[in-house]
Amino acid sequence: MKIIKAKDYDDMSRKAANIISAQIIMKPSCVLGLATGSTPIGTYARLVEQYQQGDLDFSGVTTVNLDEYKGLNRENDQSYYYFMNDNLFSKVNIDLKKTFLPDGMEPDAKKACEDYNRVIAATGGVDLQLLGLGHNGHIGFNEPGEVFEAETHCVDLTESTIAANKRFFASEEEVPRQAYTMGIKTIMQAKKILLVVSGADKASIVKEAFYGAITPRVQASVLQLHKDVIIVADEAALSEVCL
Ligand code: GLP
Repeated sequence: MKIIKAKDYDDMSRKAANIISAQIIMKPSCVLGLATGSTPIGTYARLVEQYQQGDLDFSGVTTVNLDEYKGLNRENDQSYYYFMNDNLFSKVNIDLKKTFLPDGMEPDAKKACEDYNRVIAATGGVDLQLLGLGHNGHIGFNEPGEVFEAETHCVDLTESTIAANKRFFASEEEVPRQAYTMGIKTIMQAKKILLVVSGADKASIVKEAFYGAITPRVQASVLQLHKDVIIVADEAALSEVCL
């Protein structure tokens, strides 16, 4: 596990974007695993800039996103499809037919999950998986629990996740209670993992996840077992650990 210290959010975003652009330059037909949440927004903005400057070509890239809320359609501005379109897809020359997220509008959870597992398998495997980190240590929407779930599954969001995400919705009642998320085995199968984390409010979970015990109670702790993980964290997020 390699931890790269960034000065602040902007520096974190630039460093993370440079790692992703290096991946695209080295393998123009790469498969990127993508994440949502507020943390990667700056990373996507830097990638868009690099594209606008003529330094990046997304035409060969395939993307698979980590997760999607169950019950939100693509036009809903809180759906992760909308987020990806708004922050990246509509701003670069990616082929939309090669961008994938779980189908939040599929009410049959078993079908939605099996379909998404097939989509991921058909890509041939993720070259670089981008991750954020939830305050409770979740990655994607793999919430604290007794086990590490292998593949795509339907999760009941925890109260703390619903509370954390309510800032994006008009009211807490509107936050979906369930989501479809890629499983831990699938995330761990990515050849390379890049996790971005920023802010003092994430400092204690950074310490727990990456310097503590490996346990499904802190899902991100499993990343300690992956052979190629890069964590780009700002000084505030690293304030409880010594580097
Ligand atoms: C969300 C997403 C995660 C994200 C996390 C942290 O609920 N499902 O993929 O990493 O929470 O979000 P943020 O970056 O806004 O703190």
